[in-house]
Amino acid sequence: MLFPSLFNLHADGLLADGLTIIGSGRSALNIAEFHDQLRAALAEHLPDDRLDTAVVDQFLARIEYCAVDAAAGTGYDELAQQLGARMNHSIGAYLSTPPSMFGPIARGLASANIACAECRIAMEKPIGHDLASSLQVNADVASAFAEDRVFRIDHYLGKETVQNLLALRFANMMFEPLWNAQAIDHVQITVAETVGLEGRVSYYDGVGALRDMVQNHMLQLLAIIAMEPPASVNSTAVRDEKVKLLRSLRKLTPADIKAHSVKGQYSHGAVNGAAVAGYAEELGENSNTETFVAIKAHIDNWRWKNVPFYLRTGKRMPVRRSEVIIQFKPVPHNIFAPVGVGGVDANKMIINLQPEENIQVKLMSKQPGLDRAGLKLREVTLDVSLQNSDRRRIAYERLLLDFIEGDQTLFVRRDEVEAQWHWIDAIRAAWAETGQAPQNYTAGTWGPSSAIALIERDGASWHDEIASD
Ligand code: BG6
Repeated sequence: MLFPSLFNLHADGLLADGLTIIGSGRSALNIAEFHDQLRAALAEHLPDDRLDTAVVDQFLARIEYCAVDAAAGTGYDELAQQLGARMNHSIGAYLSTPPSMFGPIARGLASANIACAECRIAMEKPIGHDLASSLQVNADVASAFAEDRVFRIDHYLGKETVQNLLALRFANMMFEPLWNAQAIDHVQITVAETVGLEGRVSYYDGVGALRDMVQNHMLQLLAIIAMEPPASVNSTAVRDEKVKLLRSLRKLTPADIKAHSVKGQYSHGAVNGAAVAGYAEELGENSNTETFVAIKAHIDNWRWKNVPFYLRTGKRMPVRRSEVIIQFKPVPHNIFAPVGVGGVDANKMIINLQPEENIQVKLMSKQPGLDRAGLKLREVTLDVSLQNSDRRRIAYERLLLDFIEGDQTLFVRRDEVEAQWHWIDAIRAAWAETGQAPQNYTAGTWGPSSAIALIERDGASWHDEIASD
């Protein structure tokens, strides 16, 4: 994702002429070897029509290499030497490493003076594996870089449609007055993936869906959907509102965890018509790691009193789809009931984040006709397509550019990460205390049947269940 994104920015003329990039890793590579690796990676990850050889060469001319062994703590002085006069300008260090290395690398950079007042540091999630470790990582990084120079990446915030949620909510008068417990019955957030382990065995097992997807991407989505209106789109205003919301999430306890959460793990099945192995087979051993999780969450504030937020994510689902469903309440009194045929369905807003990008609003309207046997109503769809003709950008392009320019709005602040972990840790503790184990689901289905029960007990249904009726 990183070099293809940087390449796209370069090819679109969005990187300043003097901007140089130093790739770094443990291997001692000469520059030709590193460029060869990059050429191969660009060819693999970018469409052929983007890869003009002359443009690739220009891009590679910006790129150098310097070996740094972060675990051994060596190579920082050499890196500083290679930076040379560039040490007087702003430098961004982008860490795509395990979180256990964030603190040591921040300190290593500082030891070689690569943590000057204009220097920034970016880190890929996860920030720690629980609250205690994230506090430690954040404190270690803070010892070398002030918070206004720390950029925590959640790539969902770089997605066009996720940012569009802000526009939808705060650039339209129509929705905000209804965006609360008076008008909304419940909210569903689904992030379904068709992929399995994708060879990430050593990372994924021991992490699981709750920490891989809910702790970060889904809670960020939830925060943007449910937060109060920020006073502006600046980084402090937006992040202040998100953190307030995250802190209002009701903690799940051992007493309610079984009724409010479901863990699942896929067994062999078929996805998109192809047979796929079960998680344990991919892993080569049995495991208690969940590849699916469904949670009924509540936000304890005025706006969302008693409105359930159903969150669901899983690997090896039938389709790749991320969507938010805003289910409105029924009208308070159905004036058509005595004369009409068919009920009045409650309004629903479907926000498709990927792969399609659109918003649909389900409304009731009258069926055309003379209505001799009573007025007939039908559901119609207001369809707002968000596709545009521009090339769809990789989420990292936006984030890398913001990082280079120093705009923190789409990066996760320390207190947000910590609030997220606070809520996730309580779920994990409750799972541990009650011995909740993952339930089996067949690859290519929507998760264990108890995930359906989780929402149906409340008289609602997951959106796909309705869609497939
Ligand atoms: C990553 C997770 O953060 O997000 C992966 O670690 C997951 O497990 C990925 O597959 C999903 O991202 P996207 O952009 O494909 O929805």
